[in-house]
Amino acid sequence: MPKKQSPDIFQTLRKDAFGALEEASDFEAVRKAEAEYLGKAGRLTNILKSLKDLAEQERKEMGSTANALKKEIEEKIRIKKSEFTKTSRHPESRRIDVSIPGKKILRGHLHPISRVLKEVAAIFESMGFEIVEGPEVETEYYNFDALNIPKDHPARDLWDTFWIKPLTSRLLLRTHTSPMEVRYMEKNNPPLRIIAPGRCFRHEATDASHEHTFYQIEGLMVGKNVTLANLKGFLTVFMKRFYGEKVKLRWQPSFFPFVEPGLELLMACSVCEGKGCSVCGGSGWLEVIPCGMTHPEVFKAAGYNPKEWQGFAFGMGLDRIAMMKYKIDDIRLFYSADLRFIKQF
Ligand code: DAH
Repeated sequence: MPKKQSPDIFQTLRKDAFGALEEASDFEAVRKAEAEYLGKAGRLTNILKSLKDLAEQERKEMGSTANALKKEIEEKIRIKKSEFTKTSRHPESRRIDVSIPGKKILRGHLHPISRVLKEVAAIFESMGFEIVEGPEVETEYYNFDALNIPKDHPARDLWDTFWIKPLTSRLLLRTHTSPMEVRYMEKNNPPLRIIAPGRCFRHEATDASHEHTFYQIEGLMVGKNVTLANLKGFLTVFMKRFYGEKVKLRWQPSFFPFVEPGLELLMACSVCEGKGCSVCGGSGWLEVIPCGMTHPEVFKAAGYNPKEWQGFAFGMGLDRIAMMKYKIDDIRLFYSADLRFIKQF
């Protein structure tokens, strides 16, 4: 009769097998443990083989314990193996699977504001406008005085200004792109058509429609017989080309010291489709392009004879134009550097 197997033997075997598997730090080690316990001459295999020589009752008892243990070890081996197949330590995983779809290479793209700026500029260029640029740090003269905005006049409060420490002349961060009008006219003779895009700054609290930093595009056309009809014509063409033929427009009078008369071009709010929302203040309409006929005082400041020349000017907020294009309800998103927002364009 073979020696009676004590049940302790399974406990020891279990401990050894689990210990070895626990410690196994790579696929190879798991395979080694598998051979040692479950292989042809493995420790558990040998016990199973020897069962046939036992008395029936004992064989049954030992058999079921041995088989239960075998299952347990097999399961543990399966788990351990899968752990290593997932990592590069397993040679299988280093093989190249040519059927896996390729990784998308991320391409950079233009910021929505840059994109809109390019589109707007292209439309005006096609209508004969030249693109010019001016300084972000301006003098008080070009930002205000030359634009017929008198010193200490309440109109100046319209533009909350960031002042820079006074040097020889008072310097500031330009509050609009309008200073480029006189700067350009001083150095160039009429007739002319220009647009001047650029960054502007205002010392004000931010909310969904106001930022301390934003973009404008100034426009100026000067000629012998430039009229209000030309102003309306050019801006209507622009709006239709930019937003599509169906864009709904409205004009209303407004005031700016550097134009007379002053106007405001409104469009039906695209966020709510004219129904009224927080972006358009519930009115369904949004002012998008302030504009007007160049004031004689501005021509005088530039050295042009206002009896000889007429002109129109406009200064659109690029952010607003972009918000209407892409139905964006908060200007701050443009400057948030939030990739979840930027990646949508
Ligand atoms: N510069 C003005 C502003 O920022 C906007 C503006 C109004 C520009 C009328 C113009 C104009 O050229 O004609 O508030």
